[in-house]
Amino acid sequence: MAINVLERRALMGAIAFVAVSLGLIAYATWGLGINVPTCIPLGTKPFDQASVTKHDGKNYEVHFVARMWAFEPAVLRVPTGSTLDIYAVTKDVTHGFLIAGTNVNLMLVPGAVANGRVHFSKPGIYNIVCHEYCGKGHQAMNAQIEVSDQIADYSVEGIPASAGLKLLDEKGCLACHTVDGSARIGPTFKGAWGTTLHLADGSTRTFDAALFEQKIHDPTAFAVTGYPPVMPPIPLTDDEIKQIEAYLEGLQN
Ligand code: CUA
Repeated sequence: MAINVLERRALMGAIAFVAVSLGLIAYATWGLGINVPTCIPLGTKPFDQASVTKHDGKNYEVHFVARMWAFEPAVLRVPTGSTLDIYAVTKDVTHGFLIAGTNVNLMLVPGAVANGRVHFSKPGIYNIVCHEYCGKGHQAMNAQIEVSDQIADYSVEGIPASAGLKLLDEKGCLACHTVDGSARIGPTFKGAWGTTLHLADGSTRTFDAALFEQKIHDPTAFAVTGYPPVMPPIPLTDDEIKQIEAYLEGLQN
């Protein structure tokens, strides 16, 4: 049976429309680099803890955790030219996750991990906002990514201290050091950050990131007066060290 000429035109029109639509999606994906947000089932990795992991060069994997009414981390600073692989989850209700001025626009639905990638070629302050109404603190729910030419590596604020404490526990540090001010085989961490330490060789040094990192990398380099030099090597990645330092810094009072 012959197809009516009008029917044929309608068919051709529909096929052309589908082809153009698919072409535009392909162009957006490969031409413009726009990622369609994907969802990963929860539990494939520990995504429920905010963290930053540095991969090669300026590639970072960032795990954001959203809850009423904040994002963790609250501030992330990265060098210009960085690419972030972002994984974000919510701990309570559905939140939005929009990085203004970029193509990252995610929905954080309970039980799922939202994923997106963003490349920052220009310095500036990029605001992350929640664009899904989530209760009375919704308007104030935001975070920031600061992209700068002036820094060589990343830094973060607002990752909960519990990450550092958990590491101290897992790595066995708490067998010798307390976080409540009491003495054990080693000095307590409570209130130690930023203070002057008296070392066994008679010198004094400030307890800061440089000192902490030296002690981790070379445990026998020095000892604090009054404590035996028995610190063993502790295998820690640079990211883990940063998380512990953030925790120790917050233990000042
Ligand atoms: Cu979270 Cu609105």
